[in-house]
Amino acid sequence: MAGIIQAKGIRKSYKYQQGLLPIIDIDNWSAESGDAIALLGPSGSGKSTFLHLLGGVLPVDQGKLEVAGHDVSAMKESERDSYRSSAVGYVFQDFYLIPSLTVKQNVELVMPKTMNKSERTKLMDEWFERVGLQDRMNQLPSRLSRGQQQRAAIIRAMINKPPIVLADEPTGSLDFETGSSVMRLLLDMSRENGSTLITVTHDLHLAELFPVKLQFAEINSCLKGQQGRDASAALAAASPLKAAASGGWRS
Ligand SMILES: Nc1ncnc2c1ncn2[C@@H]1O[C@H](COP(=O)(O)OP(=O)(O)O)[C@@H](O)[C@H]1O
Ligand SMILES: [Mg+2]
Repeated sequence: MAGIIQAKGIRKSYKYQQGLLPIIDIDNWSAESGDAIALLGPSGSGKSTFLHLLGGVLPVDQGKLEVAGHDVSAMKESERDSYRSSAVGYVFQDFYLIPSLTVKQNVELVMPKTMNKSERTKLMDEWFERVGLQDRMNQLPSRLSRGQQQRAAIIRAMINKPPIVLADEPTGSLDFETGSSVMRLLLDMSRENGSTLITVTHDLHLAELFPVKLQFAEINSCLKGQQGRDASAALAAASPLKAAASGGWRS
């Protein structure tokens, strides 16, 4: 069976001074439906950029990117927006819940308008109970702990059962114990939904929970060889703190 994600010859650069700085160069990579992948790599290596390409937040410069039957690389911005809202669930390090809405209202915002009120309420009740937040759903995000906010954000990402879930350091601002229960929830919910999950994490213990661990340097040629070293030097100049923090760019 063809992979649910197929990336062929995809490239992405950012404008840098007078030129372009290559960040992503993936010759051939695919993921199978239902995979749960921990994506690992140093800070600044392009992991978030890669998720943005998969999620249609950013366009690829070149190549073919197919996700869940959609040719994302051929889409205009408006098409990528509707692809993202129908096919992708995104979970962020800092949750990005809307602070003036209750957590239930945050979730309700993403639910299909075609679903009637009682169906919506029933589905939300089930999900909030599933993640242990049934007593907190009518509260503002600020009244919840960080772990609880991330659980609510996971409901928002998954309630419509998207084929693809992208999580960008979802436990990066949580303590280890809270982070591990959030990571387990993310994995369990993806499995129950039949979603394919890609999670960026720096935590090697949490990465062990994933059946597939992918070092980004294994697929992203910008992180190795001559081109990688050139990018590395330019990036180190552009971002000395990041380069130092990640221990440099040599692979
Ligand atoms: N919008 C942007 N414009 C220019 N450079 C960017 C932009 N976003 C990220 N970068 C640079 O691209 C590199 C990769 O960033 P990113 O994808 O965020 O890496 P990671 O998530 O692995 O830390 C970094 O050096 C970063 O500074
Ligand atoms: Mg990142």
